[in-house]
Amino acid sequence: MENLIKDIDILPAEEALACDFKTTVDEQTGKAKKLYIESYGCAMNFSDSEIVASIMKENGFDTTSDFHEADVIFLNTCSIREKAELTVRKRLTVFNKAKKKRPEMTIGVLGCMAERLKEKLLEEEKVVDMVVGPDAYRDLPNLINTAEEGQKAVNTFLSREETYANIAPVRLNSNGVSAFISIMRGCDNMCSFCVVPFTRGRERSRDPFSIVKEAQELVDLGYKEVTLLGQNVDSYKWSPEENNKARLDRNEDVVSEVTTFAHLLEMVAQVSPLLRVRFSTSHPKDITDEVLYTIKKYDNICKYIHLPVQSGNSRVLELMNRTYDRAWYLDRVAKIREVLGEECGISSDMITGFCTETEEEHLDTLSIMDIVKYDFSYMFYYSERPGTLAAKKFEDDIPLEIKKRRLAEVITKQSEISFERNKLDIGKEQVILLEGTSKKSQEELKGRNSANKMVIVPTGNYKKGDYLKVKITNCTPATLFGEVLEINPATL
Ligand code: SAH
Ligand code: SF4
Ligand code: F3S
Repeated sequence: MENLIKDIDILPAEEALACDFKTTVDEQTGKAKKLYIESYGCAMNFSDSEIVASIMKENGFDTTSDFHEADVIFLNTCSIREKAELTVRKRLTVFNKAKKKRPEMTIGVLGCMAERLKEKLLEEEKVVDMVVGPDAYRDLPNLINTAEEGQKAVNTFLSREETYANIAPVRLNSNGVSAFISIMRGCDNMCSFCVVPFTRGRERSRDPFSIVKEAQELVDLGYKEVTLLGQNVDSYKWSPEENNKARLDRNEDVVSEVTTFAHLLEMVAQVSPLLRVRFSTSHPKDITDEVLYTIKKYDNICKYIHLPVQSGNSRVLELMNRTYDRAWYLDRVAKIREVLGEECGISSDMITGFCTETEEEHLDTLSIMDIVKYDFSYMFYYSERPGTLAAKKFEDDIPLEIKKRRLAEVITKQSEISFERNKLDIGKEQVILLEGTSKKSQEELKGRNSANKMVIVPTGNYKKGDYLKVKITNCTPATLFGEVLEINPATL
């Protein structure tokens, strides 16, 4: 268990809206300068790094995977928990050494930590030349010039409109099969523990036309899966006024209806029946029946919903300002089961040891896990973030060892439930999308099923991006194993 606790911050690796880091790919298109980016935090941050790479490319930079040879190093940072910020500071020490050897290097901190700390970062970290918030990336070329002239380069302006809709992302670290599409930015929810509304600003949705266009371009490039990203995708909304402004610019007929998330999902699903569509994250207060029926209607919309509960106790949920209670949450899950059946994957985020959480209230989190039967979860202990509502209003009063013990119990419970859920898949026929060879063995391939579970199959005459119909033969708590029945079946 100790190992699991130490690994807590890397648990969500590879998943949407969770913590990990990535470095850049080597590009050699003959540009004069080299850019190295590392990205921390959620999928939205990874997606932003692809926008940043695109803006930099336009301004004479190729990407490199070796920071020693970079002219510019960017760290796209996360502030969600204290540990995320500590990791960034450690990386800055490493880059500091590289800069000592090559003082002409420019080092920039981008993203949520830049937004949270602003100029303070330049004072605290002597090695930082630029501080750029998530809505200021169009200003990067100017800021680089300013930094190169030896001046302070800071832009942490938060916008109410910026969605980078017209910027075609440069796909970094992509497997060529699956890509993220940001559909909105910011968050208006103000969960009391969360720093995101402060680092990402007000919620705003992106023009649906530009989203569909990006999905179509990905299909044309051979991609087979897109994940629509937002902190709260269910509150996606594109009003007729906004819609018509953009439509008139394109000489199209005006419309009177609002584009909701359900509409958008349908529009993206219609791009190609062979394009799988995923989305993340759904907020339990906003997910509508219409969204569930849209998922059911299209074979290519994956039957998987990330529906973070945070706590199973209504009093704690109120303190967290989640605006739903245990009964509401369970009602939403019942509706998911009614419309999409037992096979629909459901995952969650959980926080243990939130301010004033009692032992009984913690048991409510364990019991809601038993009722919902999550396929998997991202689990954290509470980390107070400066400036949040909880930091202002409540005392962070649960001792660290209790937070960690509760977290260990939640992790053990999740592992048991994941195993139980995976065993139910044995004997079932499912379609997986091949992503590549398995990490453990070249003799095995890996792909995900609709419910977002990794399935391992023996190698054969298949390639990345193939759909395979498989029969599940075995499982562990984390993985399914299968045998291939058919390549590229008629329905997904
Ligand atoms: N928008 C998403 C979550 C984004 S942050 C949603 O509303 O569900 C990802 C997860 O990090 C959260 O769901 C929460 O479980 C966790 N998290 C956020 N702030 C935290 C904090 N201060 N301490 C511990 N975990 C936190
Ligand atoms: Fe944070 Fe809540 Fe917004 Fe998610 S919905 S980003 S947890 S404030
Ligand atoms: Fe994402 Fe971390 Fe910012 S989770 S939105 S990068 S604080």
